[in-house]
Amino acid sequence: MDNDTRTRISRRVFIATSAGTAATLAAPLPAAAQAAAAAADTSPVQFEVNGKRHELRLDPRTTLLDVLREHLHLTGTKKGCDQGQCGACTVLVNGSRINSCLSLAVMHEGDSITTIEGLGTPERMHPMQAAFVKHDGFQCGYCTPGQICSAVAVLAEIKAGVPSHVSLDLTAQPLLSKQELRERMSGNICRCGAYPNIIDAMQETAGGTP
Ligand code: FES
Ligand code: FES
Repeated sequence: MDNDTRTRISRRVFIATSAGTAATLAAPLPAAAQAAAAAADTSPVQFEVNGKRHELRLDPRTTLLDVLREHLHLTGTKKGCDQGQCGACTVLVNGSRINSCLSLAVMHEGDSITTIEGLGTPERMHPMQAAFVKHDGFQCGYCTPGQICSAVAVLAEIKAGVPSHVSLDLTAQPLLSKQELRERMSGNICRCGAYPNIIDAMQETAGGTP
């Protein structure tokens, strides 16, 4: 066998071996193995949403927003920017507001989460929802669930005496002024510009004059 023939054979053997290896690698895993692999990539978490307990196995990279919308089908919470800039995804976790697009669901073990669906219903609205309707605090409505969840938490923050960036005296009870409310709601963007009416709704809900 001359050198040329040897080279051609070894090329043929190499190509055939490679093709066989690739086919082996590309072959689908049996269903049981696929299920085991999927389970190994997930983490367990349990939390309450609107008073209902949920036990889930999730890809640890899943955001709370995606779990609410895609897994639990609570689509009242909206996805706007998906990067913490607009506030459309605001929900309450143990009474405090968060941007659910910035929070991994597996971080909420044992938490109590409230979405717009848990605040009230069209028949039995939360006072903040009723005030938004009364004061026309929305136009297209896309930002509204986040605005309302945020507004509810803002009033709780003021009641608890939590100061804001515009509070003049950090030790005094914060005021229910328009300036305070605007500052505290500044993370919730409304492209329809319903801001003045949202502030009126908040003041009325808090018992102040709109
Ligand atoms: Fe979360 Fe915009 S969608 S802040
Ligand atoms: Fe349209 Fe706020 S009501 S974005």
